[in-house]
Amino acid sequence: MIVPQPFQYQGSKRALAPLILNYLPAKCRRLVDPFAGSAAMTLACAARMRADRYWINDLNKPLAELLNLIINRPEELADAYAQLWKGEAEDALEHFYTLREKFNRTQEPKLFLYLLARCIKGAVRYNSEGMFNQSPDKRRLGTRPETMRQNIMAVSRLLRGRTVVTSHDFRDVLAAAEPEDVIYMDPPYQGTSGERDSRYLAGLSFDDFVVALDCLNARGLRYAVSYDGRTGNKHYGEPLPSYLGLAHVELEAGRSTQSTLLGREEHTVESLYISPALAAEIGVIPPRASRRPVKQPELF
Ligand SMILES: C[S@@+](CC[C@H](N)C(=O)[O-])C[C@H]1O[C@@H](n2cnc3c(N)ncnc32)[C@H](O)[C@@H]1O
Repeated sequence: MIVPQPFQYQGSKRALAPLILNYLPAKCRRLVDPFAGSAAMTLACAARMRADRYWINDLNKPLAELLNLIINRPEELADAYAQLWKGEAEDALEHFYTLREKFNRTQEPKLFLYLLARCIKGAVRYNSEGMFNQSPDKRRLGTRPETMRQNIMAVSRLLRGRTVVTSHDFRDVLAAAEPEDVIYMDPPYQGTSGERDSRYLAGLSFDDFVVALDCLNARGLRYAVSYDGRTGNKHYGEPLPSYLGLAHVELEAGRSTQSTLLGREEHTVESLYISPALAAEIGVIPPRASRRPVKQPELF
């Protein structure tokens, strides 16, 4: 099945989505995607009509606004992209840097689409002031306007009229989630000790995330989380604690290009954690939850 992709995005779940879908209910009332990025899981669900409604959220405001434009004003966005892309005729690199500076000043989502389509590997990067600082790809011209238009229109057809797009912190989204929702979460998971992560506008505290999952469990909500992973014996990210009682499956994400370059045959495996309520529904047996660590009282 071909699922339209509006733009490449760092950490996109596009390739893994068909595997992750095996662990979601065959049909649900609403799919909630609090760390949407390029909304690859939402699109994979929508293409298969797995939910009646969708809630896409990302803390990155221009990104959320861009997703909203794609869904609700696709023609206007496709026209704007074509204009920006054609502006490259004179000096493509100079054009990119001018638009990047303008984006950092204005946070205009139409400019963000151009930068995403045109930057190296479609990989966003931010400096410590939150400024987009990725460079242009010197070997490619970026998605051609006709292809971009087709993709945008296809995404809009899948999601228009059944999708809400917001830009909140994930905790606000989870607080508003309802019992009939299924929540898929793909938070940034590297750099777990700090909150800064140059790959995304905002990083995430591991402890805050665990507390949020604990609250969802107490409410009996159904959710799945993509979290840590490994390539060969090298692990990325901290595993989620066993006291959450989550079922854990490992999904084969393909051969590691980095290892292949180093002459090693290693595969990357990504973890998917499934909440007790969802595991019970789809028939995956979660491990027995271990006891929550008791905080030692401080002596002085
Ligand atoms: C790993 S990416 C998601 C990729 C996505 N699954 C896809 O297929 O494109 C994580 C996303 O979480 C967003 N994010 C980071 N902290 C957040 C927060 N506190 N609340 C909501 N979104 C957040 C980032 O902006 C980033 O787009």
